[in-house]
Order: sequence, then C-alpha cells, then structure tokens
Amino acid sequence: MAGRRDALLTTRDKNHSVTASRIAVAVFIGVLLGSIFAFFLPHGFLTSTPTPPTLNRKMVSSACESPEQVNALKFDIRSAKEKNSELKKEVKGLMERLRLAEQGKGQATEQFVVLGENHKAGPVGTVKALRTNPPVIPDDSVNPRLAKILEEVAIYKEIVVVLANTNVLEMLQVWFTNIKRVGIPNYLVVALDDRIEEFCKSNDVPVYRRDPDQGVDSIAKSGGNHAVSGLKFRVLREFLQLGYSVLLSDVDIVYLQNPFDYIYRDSDVESMSDGHSNHTAYGFNDVFDEPSMGWARYAHTMRIWVYNSGFFYIRPTIPSIELLDRVADRLSKDSKAWDQAVFNELLFFPSHPGYDGLHASKRTMDMYLFMNSKVLFKTVRKDAKLKKLKPVIVHVNYHPNKLERMNAVVEFYVNGKQDALDSFPDGSD
Ligand SMILES: *[C@@H]1O[C@H](CO)[C@@H](O)[C@H](O)[C@H]1NC(C)=O
Repeated sequence: MAGRRDALLTTRDKNHSVTASRIAVAVFIGVLLGSIFAFFLPHGFLTSTPTPPTLNRKMVSSACESPEQVNALKFDIRSAKEKNSELKKEVKGLMERLRLAEQGKGQATEQFVVLGENHKAGPVGTVKALRTNPPVIPDDSVNPRLAKILEEVAIYKEIVVVLANTNVLEMLQVWFTNIKRVGIPNYLVVALDDRIEEFCKSNDVPVYRRDPDQGVDSIAKSGGNHAVSGLKFRVLREFLQLGYSVLLSDVDIVYLQNPFDYIYRDSDVESMSDGHSNHTAYGFNDVFDEPSMGWARYAHTMRIWVYNSGFFYIRPTIPSIELLDRVADRLSKDSKAWDQAVFNELLFFPSHPGYDGLHASKRTMDMYLFMNSKVLFKTVRKDAKLKKLKPVIVHVNYHPNKLERMNAVVEFYVNGKQDALDSFPDGSD
C-alpha cells in the first residue's frame, strides 16, 4: 500500500497537475484502506507489494519542484495511518495542503487556465479533447518597436516571417516577388544584415532589423543555413509574445497562392511535411519483423516523416512558446544538432522516465498544397492529374540548386511553361 501511495504522490508531472484533487481523493481512499489493512495485517501487507525504491526516488526528483514538501506530506500520511482516531481530520488537512502544493507551481497555474473547469464526459462520439489552446496575453513591452511594425503589417494578427542575410539575397528576391504577385500583404523580412535591410527598403518590402545588442547576432551575419535556423526560434518567440501567429518561412519557397486561405488554425503547430506520400506525410504503422521471436515476430511501430521546420504556422500559445524555448535551448547546448531534428523530437517524443514531453497540438499540412520539392520532382511533374493541381507554395528543400529550381517552378506554375521542370533530375546530380 505504501508503495502505491508513494506513486500517487510522486508520479505527477506538470501536465497532470490538474488532477491534483483526484490524487488527493485517491490519497484519502488509500489512507483509509491502509489503516484497515494495517489493522488486520500489521506486518504482512507491505512485504507483499514491494516498492521499487530507485524508481520512486527518480520520480520525486524529476517530477517535483519541491520534493521536500511532498516527502513531508508522505511522512505525515504514514504517521496519520498509525493514529486511527484522528485520521479523518488529518487526511482532510493533508488533502488541502497537497492541493495547495500542487497549485503553487507556475505550470500548474497555466494548465488550470488552459483547461478551465472540469467537465463531465458527454455521450459516445461527442467528446473532443482540447487542441486549440488559447493565445497568450500580448505583451508589447517585450519589443515595442516590433510591436509597432506588426501593428501595421500583420492582418488578423497573422504574418509570414522570413529570416535572411546577404547569402540568400537572390532567393529572397524570388521569394518576395512571388509573394507580391499573389497579393499577400502581411509578410515581413527579418533582416540579419545591413545589405538585406537596404535591399528590402529599396524594393518596398516590409523589413525588420533586429537590435544589434541581442547577443546572438554574430550568428546572423556570418551564419550558414543551420546557424540561422537556430536563431529563428529565438526571434520567433518575440512575435508570439506580442500575440501574433507566425507562418515561418524559409527563403527557398515559391508562393503561388495565399497560404492564409488554407490554414486550419486549430493546432499549436501546423507544418508542412518532408513526406512524399500519404503514408510518409501523415503517419503509418510500420511493422518490424523479427522472425526469431516466432509467434511474436511482428512488432508494430509508429512512424511519420519529419515536419519541415522551414515552413510552419505557429500560434501564440504556451505550448508553442515552450517548444521554441526548448528547441533554442537544445541547439545552444549542442552545436552539431540539426534544428529540424530537434524540432521534431520535441514535438513527437512522449514523456518518459527522466523526460517531460512537450504537449503541443499539431497538424500536418496537405502535401500537395504545401509541396516539398521531392513531391514535385519525383511524383507531381510526372503525373498528368497532379500536374494540374496548383499548390499554395513549393518549397525547394530537397535540392541544392535552389534558385534554379525556384525559377523553374515559377515558369511552370506562373508562366504556364509546361516543360519547365523536365530538365531536372529527381534528386541532386
Ligand atoms: C491519399 O489520400 C487521399 C485522401 O485520403 C486519397 O484520395 C488518395 O487516393 C490517397 N493516395 C494514395 C496513393 O493512396
């Protein structure tokens, strides 16, 4: 019994905080049962349900911000068990204290705000879990200058954002030329150097130059693709804090329609996929075969091709900001980490011992509307029907000769040149 109660007290993590009252009730019941068993089986019971001590210790230290507090409560419950007469009164007091201990934590408060009141489950087929988290309260003091720019440029608190330095100037030109042609007014270039800032101004492109005192900017000037990718998670945070949803865009993307007409807006993160088929883009059950296991030779595994961290829509919610922070933190500690891999691991790996998973809701974009260049060059351009579809964007993420292929995409989809894509190989040469 003691082991079970310890687990009840300590396996809670941040996301289970809302169940504090239920835990308290369980503790209450547990203590009552415990006292009954203690009465009838004073020695026998505890030995029959051994507690894995290492597991318990780990849970206490990893899951609780104040293990001393919880340890004290556990001790109190144990001694309460021995004092049958005063039991009821004590447990009630402990329940109250436990509830307060649970509520006193920052994340717990957030979750209460997010989840609101408890609900009864409705009839079969009518229940839906929360996936559209409420936006944060905008805080203009985070960056008043950016807040002012966004007030002018954003529409319905939404904006396309791209980060660019001089290394990608030519692609940036194709990028905003197509955005302008499509008639998307709410976009912003985050200029990482003077030349890009000037280039945008002279082309009448909305531009935001970050203050140079923000530390990470040495990355911005000289950085290759991956370094800049890490920076973008820090930059993005401010947009979200200001209360804006961001459609984060790489520069190697051709816009053919207005993406805001095709966004669902029901999830924290809505992203294009690196997948190239229904299976790979949307998820599948990949059966692993190990014949030596005989009867149990087949093991089912869950798989999905990664989300493309170069084109995703992110809503200004607590889970979204937590995601950005955790990605940026991991990238700052491991210079070899690839931001897209980190982004996906954090989005998809569940909580497990020693690790609290991120609870962000996610949606995969339609792979033909938000098309990667593998889908285009491997499948679509060879398929008479798919060829007629007009994507919203094409991301030349799978190929190194980006500018060349971007121009070919424009020729094909904008200028109607039917053979514009034909000369390219499926992959890189
Ligand atoms: C992929 O899924 C869509 C939508 O469910 C379906 O219409 C299409 O036939 C599928 N394609 C293949 C190749 O299975």
